This record gives sequence, structure tokens and C-alpha cells, in this order.
Amino acid sequence: MDIDSLKRSAVTAVENVSNLKDLEAVRVKYLGRKGELTKILRSLKELSLKERREIGPAANKLKQELGKLIEERKQTVQGIASEGGHNDVTRPGEKVKIGHIHPLTRIEREVRDIFTSLNFSIIDGPEIETEYYNFDALNIPPNHPARDVWDTFWLKQSATKKGKPLLRTHTSPMQIRYMETHEPPFQIIVPGRVFRYEATDASHEINFYQVEGLMVGKNVTLANFKYVMEEFLKRLFGHQVQFRFRPGYFPFVEPGLEVDIKLSKEHHRLGGKWLEIMGAGMVHRKVFNAVKYNSNPPAGGVQGFAFGVGLDRLAMIKYNIPDIRLFYSGDLRFVRQF
Ligand code: FA5
Repeated sequence: MDIDSLKRSAVTAVENVSNLKDLEAVRVKYLGRKGELTKILRSLKELSLKERREIGPAANKLKQELGKLIEERKQTVQGIASEGGHNDVTRPGEKVKIGHIHPLTRIEREVRDIFTSLNFSIIDGPEIETEYYNFDALNIPPNHPARDVWDTFWLKQSATKKGKPLLRTHTSPMQIRYMETHEPPFQIIVPGRVFRYEATDASHEINFYQVEGLMVGKNVTLANFKYVMEEFLKRLFGHQVQFRFRPGYFPFVEPGLEVDIKLSKEHHRLGGKWLEIMGAGMVHRKVFNAVKYNSNPPAGGVQGFAFGVGLDRLAMIKYNIPDIRLFYSGDLRFVRQF
């Protein structure tokens, strides 16, 4: 048999085996002590010099190639064996686990998208703040009773010109920081993490997320706020959402309000009840004074609205989550549902 046809039959034989026993039989048939290729190599010395030069190198090369091919086939056959003895090409593919987006990240992205489409810019701010930005500039002086509303985590570092450092208790300090460095008109939202030193329960955490909103310009009124809220809430919760404004008190707005929403009973676990989701109002004149804005409309001054919404609360309502602490539990059984 010539080398070429030997090669063809050997390669076909190797490719057709599906278990280690048959593979070993093929190896013996071609490369064993009495194997077909071994016989050719042994008989080389009986050939003429010319034939030896022709056949010798080709036979040696085939020996090496075949050895390698058998080794490779062995790996494949072993792989098939470990999968249960046969390669079931009809078996459904396995779903690759690629992780999940945390529900708070999801709701934050939705909120960002809605406000971006309403022409609001997205601004970021520091989590470590000072007394001045968190309280004083927002019309909450040191002895003001409203200061107790925000139980504060104070930091040990010494005070600066802007007062003692603290973990921000709300995103409102970014109203001041933004207005200090920008001129109206503008409309911004500031999503971010806030901290409060208070007891936790199913609807209160010591660290949670808020989105601050601020729109300032010559003719910005509560009617504009109402329109923005209507668009925001309908896009987030669907057209069946109802909302209402209630009077509320925050030292940095006048008038101040709280916004409640009500969802349909059919679609939501919390449907049928009014739920408080945010504080809001028209920016207080003293806040504008702190950033040296002219806040006297007849003299060309500006006015505006501000709001602060709890992202955790929005996510709890939208995704029917009964306990805020689940967000921070690190429990994968919870996160995998989203
Ligand atoms: C404020 O923090 C004001 N800065 C909001 C504001 C901004 C008013 C601009 C006016 C103008 P309040 O403390 O009510 O307000 O918190 C706002 C929202 O944060 C609440 O409606 C609620 O949704 C959420 N929230 C408050 N405390 C917690 C808590 N412990 N855990 C989770 N969410 C909370």
C-alpha cells in the first residue's frame, strides 16, 4: 500500500471512532508493533536507495502526524465521555449567566432618561458636604428646629470655612453649589446617595438615594412644575397614575409641598392608596440671596421650583418591593428577580 492511501484510511479511521477502546484499536492497527505503518518503516532497509529516499521521509512524517491526530482525538473522545457518553447535538444550549441590573440602578436610569428627554441636564455632587451647603445656605440656620429633621452623620475632620464636614442628608446642597457657578435659565437633576442617622424599618434606611430637581428662569412657576411632574410620573408609572400636591414645610422653599401618587389596584400591590414620594416647592428667596441671584421678578429677577424625590421609594412602588432593606441586603435571590 502506498503512503498516501495509507494516510487516507488511517485518518478516516481515527475520525470515525467515538470511544477510547476503538481509538486504541486504530492506533495498534497502524502504529502498533505489527501495525501497517510500522511494517513499512521496518521494510525500508530492504528497499533500494532510491525507494528508501522516496518513502522513508514520507513514512516518518505520517508516523508523527498520526500520533498527534490520535492524541487530539483522545481528548475529544474523553470530553464526550464526561458529558454522558455521547454528544447530543440536539441538547438545548445552556443560558449564560450575565448578571443583573440592581433595581435601584434600573430606576435611576429610567429617571435620568425621562428628565433628559424633558431637556434637563444631569449633574453630580459630593457625598461629603459641609454644614453651610447642607443647612445654612438652604435657610436652615444652626438653631432652626428643622435641623432636627435631618439626623446627621458628622465627620471627625475639623471644620472649614464652610462649617463642619458631614455626610449629606439630602441632595438639596447641590442646588446651592450649582447656582454658585451657573447663571439661569437652567433645568437640572442631581441623582445621588444620601445618609441619615436614624432607625431603619421597612421604609427607612440610613443610606438611600434621592434625585434633586431644580428649574430656574424668569417665568418659571408652579404650573411648570405640575407639567414636569405629570410627564415624569406618567412616563415612569404609566397613564393610570394619579398625583396630588399637599402643603408641606421645607425651609428652602415657599410655598412648600409634598407630592403623593396613587396607582390602580389591579396593577399594583400598593394600588388604591395615596403614597408620599417627594418634597418640593418654589425656591425660597433666601436661597437665591445666598447665591446672589436677583429674585425680584419685576426687576428682571428669576424664580424657580425645586424637588427632592426618594429613588428607593419609587423603586419599591414600581417593582412591588415590600422592604427597603432588601436593596442593600446583597441577597442574590432578590437581585436575580430583576
Ligand atoms: C428632603 O430631603 C428635601 N431635601 C426634599 C426637597 C427638595 C424639598 C427640594 C423641597 C425642595 P424629605 O426628608 O421629605 O425631604 O425626603 C425626600 C424623600 O426622600 C421622601 O419623600 C422619601 O421618598 C425619601 N426618604 C426620606 N427619608 C428616607 C429614608 N430614611 N429612607 C428612604 N427614603 C427616604
